[in-house]
Amino acid sequence: MPSSRRSLISLNDFNTNEIRQLFSETQKLKSNFSTHHLSSGTYHSGYKGTSALLFFEPSTRTRFSFEAASSRSGYHPLILDGGLGTSLEKGESVEDTIFNIEALRPLFFVIRCHDLVDLQAIKESVQVPVINAGWGRKGHPTQALLDGLTIYEKFNRLDGLNVLFVGDIKHSRVVSSHLELARIMNYNIGFCAPADFLREDANTVAKTFTDLEAALQWADVLIALRVQKERHDSDNLFLIEDYKEKFGLNTKSLKALKSDGLIMHPGPINYGIELDLEVLKDPRSRILKQVENGVFLREALIRRIMEGDK
Ligand code: CP
Repeated sequence: MPSSRRSLISLNDFNTNEIRQLFSETQKLKSNFSTHHLSSGTYHSGYKGTSALLFFEPSTRTRFSFEAASSRSGYHPLILDGGLGTSLEKGESVEDTIFNIEALRPLFFVIRCHDLVDLQAIKESVQVPVINAGWGRKGHPTQALLDGLTIYEKFNRLDGLNVLFVGDIKHSRVVSSHLELARIMNYNIGFCAPADFLREDANTVAKTFTDLEAALQWADVLIALRVQKERHDSDNLFLIEDYKEKFGLNTKSLKALKSDGLIMHPGPINYGIELDLEVLKDPRSRILKQVENGVFLREALIRRIMEGDK
């Protein structure tokens, strides 16, 4: 029997008002954290039960931020961090692992997994909400939401903005979720990448560029993407030096971006390939702000899913 509480597998299940409300609740949590936690250390909610954070694929930002968010909202996180030391090593399947952990009665799941796992089917099978924390190339909705919040904090809107992705668009679950969020929040998506790095549906977005300078001039927000070397076929190897020359983001190439534009990256970053280390110091960079916002956004999401309007 599926959960009566809401899961988050895809952003298509959410509407504009719900996302605005989530941003507003996130901003209240940020303000509350500054007021209470930093001054007196009293930011906590009391124990409400456990959550299960199951990361079948590697993660740093998403895993730690969900861990913090779950604890802060009162749900002690039970964590699976890769397969090491679990019965996955003995051949137990991802699905069986989830169903066995469900027997421990967590109040919700947060799951990162490969495309081959049917997260929709798992959501239908378990009795508690499931939050997608990165599902193969299919989607990473909480990353798109925290990106959206970071952009909203700067411009006070998403509507009508030009958001440009540069890098490995083809393998990016972040792009998949932004395509959903852009339809809901009405912003324009642009792609800039070598042909091998583009998605099959690249012709459906507002703009596709092969020239980085023209692309950066168009953008209000630049989201750089990691070159996912592990996901490229060995017979389709790209030339890193060629990529860096045409698409590398550094102080020189970023002169083309507006002075009030934003530079973002979901992480992890291949410094010296898609982006140079010096870019972190650019006043337009929000790369670490995205990580900070991720904790609050995920806390707001957990509270909304578990407690509704309370
Ligand atoms: N952005 C992101 O998903 O990073 P992690 O893989 O470190 O969680």
